[in-house]
Amino acid sequence: MTSNNGWTGKGALWLGATGYLEIAAMAQELNVQDIIARLRVAATQDDATKAVRAIVEEVVADPESAAHAFGDPGEDVILYEDETVSIWYTHFHPAMAVPAHDHQLSACIGVFHGRERNDLFEAGPDGGIRKSSEVFLEPGDVFAIGPKAIHSVACVSEGPCNGLHVYLGNLTEVDRTLFDVDTGRSMKFDDANYERLMAADRFASG
Ligand SMILES: [Fe+2]
Repeated sequence: MTSNNGWTGKGALWLGATGYLEIAAMAQELNVQDIIARLRVAATQDDATKAVRAIVEEVVADPESAAHAFGDPGEDVILYEDETVSIWYTHFHPAMAVPAHDHQLSACIGVFHGRERNDLFEAGPDGGIRKSSEVFLEPGDVFAIGPKAIHSVACVSEGPCNGLHVYLGNLTEVDRTLFDVDTGRSMKFDDANYERLMAADRFASG
């Protein structure tokens, strides 16, 4: 039984107005380990894509809190990876574009700092790939792509682009492909090819 002053009657829990608000504020503070734990559970659910997206949306909905929670490592960080889910903090440098690539896994991209342009590609008539569309993402935005999607990402803001990327599987163990968008050539996704194809944003406007 709860009395008017907020005590439960057992002396164990304060449920008064002030105390409740303080607890609510604490619960809203993002914690990276909590986010990882929740994403791991979501990735095992029947509708994992939807469950993961809901969490990513929640995380980036308050971009400043997300940036505070993740800090600023200044480079990509694999926060967690197992056979069901890979969770990455991403850091893209201004005016640079990561090479076109696939994932072979469903991916959910949430942005909490900067502005990035996702270029999406499709198979071209000559056997290569060609750009089919582009999507700009800003803090608070979430973008999900399927396992066969091919994209590159350019950071188009003055500062770096930071985000939370979640893949439904073990990304570093998947046999993936990189694409040279100039020649149309595809090649194995490895560090050497990635560094070789890393370039200034070739689709930059103006
Ligand atoms: Fe990607």
